[in-house]
Amino acid sequence: MRTPFVVGNWKLNKSIAEATALVTELKNQLGTVKGVQVGVAPTLVALSSVVKRLEGSSIAVAAQNCHWETSGAWTGEVSPPLLADAGATWVIVGHSERRQFFGDTSEGVGKKAAAVLAAGLGVIVCVGESLAERDGGRTLSVVDEQLMAGLAPIETMDPAKAAKLVIAYEPVWAIGTGRTATPAQAQEVHAYIRQRLASRWNAAVAEAVRIQYGGSVKPSNAETLMSEKDIDGALVGGASLEAADFIAIVKAARSA
Ligand code: PGA
Repeated sequence: MRTPFVVGNWKLNKSIAEATALVTELKNQLGTVKGVQVGVAPTLVALSSVVKRLEGSSIAVAAQNCHWETSGAWTGEVSPPLLADAGATWVIVGHSERRQFFGDTSEGVGKKAAAVLAAGLGVIVCVGESLAERDGGRTLSVVDEQLMAGLAPIETMDPAKAAKLVIAYEPVWAIGTGRTATPAQAQEVHAYIRQRLASRWNAAVAEAVRIQYGGSVKPSNAETLMSEKDIDGALVGGASLEAADFIAIVKAARSA
């Protein structure tokens, strides 16, 4: 049995004051929620304040990106050990906005994912096709390339540790557009990803890894999406910026 994992990806939103106000509300309402793992991914500037505010709750804090190197002459970058030092326990890598606007490659995403796990943190590896790729019938081949390159540097994966690896399937055409993949469209790709995890490592690992769906998840569609067999939670952008919407999505994950 996989525990669903719902993470709010705040992207470039919220001041420190706004971020701490939002997590105060989440902590009050979800601090002891059972049956669902919950996380938030604030900006780096707000991360430490959010960690501090969430002390004593089970809500995890994630970073939205990192570098694969530990330290050195990498102006503007932050490493997994430093994120751990700041209290983060998860890092998102390979988000489509990173791939599209900041030149992140699947190979680089793999190096980041391995560095995050090596630092003892959990990693959320994002994959997903563009609209042109879907329309061209290339969804599974694009996802396959991103997934296999993103996992290549992670040589072994122990089923007992597989809960620290999460894959987020986020079709690019569904991100921030209000257009969600249908449960059947998402399930098809999630099942494919699970099958590829089994061939990359083994069936026990494939059964243990959580696969989140992301792309215009909202209270009205969360439960049907997460009721699909291979959808184990959500990576939520826009709807995670409002406490009521995000809380409703977490509760939908519990019901699903
Ligand atoms: P969205 O973003 O929920 O606003 O579509 C999801 C994401 O980019 O992780």
